[in-house]
Amino acid sequence: MAKTSRISGFHKMSLQERIQVLRDFADLNDQDVALLGQSAVLGIETAERMIENVIGTFELPLGLVPNMAVNGRDILVPLAVEESSVVAALANAAKMARSGGGFFTSSSGPIMIAQIQTVGLSDPFAAKLKILERRDEIIALANEQDPVLVKLGGGCQDIEVRVLDSAAGPMVVTHILVDTRDAMGANAVNTMAEALAPHIEGWTGGRVFLRILSNLADRRLARARCLVKKDAIPPGPEVIDGIVTAWAFADADPYRAATHNKGIMNGVSALVVATGNDFRAIEAGAHSFAARTGRYRSLTTWEKNRDGDLVGSIEMPLAVGLVGGATVIHPLAKLVIKILGVKTARELAEIGAAVGLCQNLAALRVLAAEGVQRGHMSLHAKNIAVMAGARDREIDEVARRLVEEGKVRVDRAEAILKEIRGR
Ligand code: MEV
Repeated sequence: MAKTSRISGFHKMSLQERIQVLRDFADLNDQDVALLGQSAVLGIETAERMIENVIGTFELPLGLVPNMAVNGRDILVPLAVEESSVVAALANAAKMARSGGGFFTSSSGPIMIAQIQTVGLSDPFAAKLKILERRDEIIALANEQDPVLVKLGGGCQDIEVRVLDSAAGPMVVTHILVDTRDAMGANAVNTMAEALAPHIEGWTGGRVFLRILSNLADRRLARARCLVKKDAIPPGPEVIDGIVTAWAFADADPYRAATHNKGIMNGVSALVVATGNDFRAIEAGAHSFAARTGRYRSLTTWEKNRDGDLVGSIEMPLAVGLVGGATVIHPLAKLVIKILGVKTARELAEIGAAVGLCQNLAALRVLAAEGVQRGHMSLHAKNIAVMAGARDREIDEVARRLVEEGKVRVDRAEAILKEIRGR
């Protein structure tokens, strides 16, 4: 009989009961089950408070990137990521950027947007103005919802109202612009939007439907720039034109821009994960911002200055927080914040932008010079060496020879290993 995944009361079961149900369902053995139900760092009880139906925790490698300098301060950057080369590439590019003093950053301030959608209006343009007439009242009503945020210097600062022509007819969309200080701010702005809904219905005669933040956080931008001296970039200054051409390709073509921006997010998301922030929110913000002109484009720009040096810049939404959520619950996230030495969400966002730009520098340099496969091949060769039975120091030697010969195959690795052991 087919097994059913319809399990009533699953969420009420204890951890051990859930694991037992899973064991029966998926025919797990003792070894499988031993991987579940425990967590050395986070603690299984904490995990159970964070999400529902916990059966275990999932680990990622945490790597440390040296060489980064941001606004004249040297920092070590922890990254949580499963992909090889991300940490090493960032460290290399950070070293190159030191030739121009590292990264210099700024940001727009932590302004989040929440949207209130009003439908069922025959006079949407009049409704828009009725809402705008009440700007001050709306700001006051929103701020009543979060006196703590206001006391910290944040709160609703402004509103915007747009009339959209949609497949479901015209709709009036009110944006509240809220300074969320060191919080990511989703809860704060959603509460405000929900509280405003009945008022907007009363003023306009329409019906409010959705009330939710926008991840296109284009009022919460982080920026970074860097300069790489022409003699500090291997294999030599000639690669600079290649990098500019590679960037121009991404900026002109969404197929390339997707991969180019993915490379940027290799660093940004790894930092966001390591700090316990919502990486889906950051990804959504980044990609929607990249498409803001109607065409999906590069998040960075790369230029050659008068001296022939390479200059790069990035501007992207980075809605990260330091208070609330996993950032303050996860012991490793707290430790990562301590290692970074940041005191505000803005500082963290700016480091995120620097990491994104630096990661892009690393990728474009490799693509414009030797191509990614050489680096990937040496890692691949190490795996092949291990598969052939190499251990400890043998691994590096076998891998190096496989790459040199251009034959990254297990049979060749076995032959080389035999030769080494026979010496
Ligand atoms: C791989 O994870 C990232 C790259 O593809 C980025 C890029 O192509 O710019 C190397």
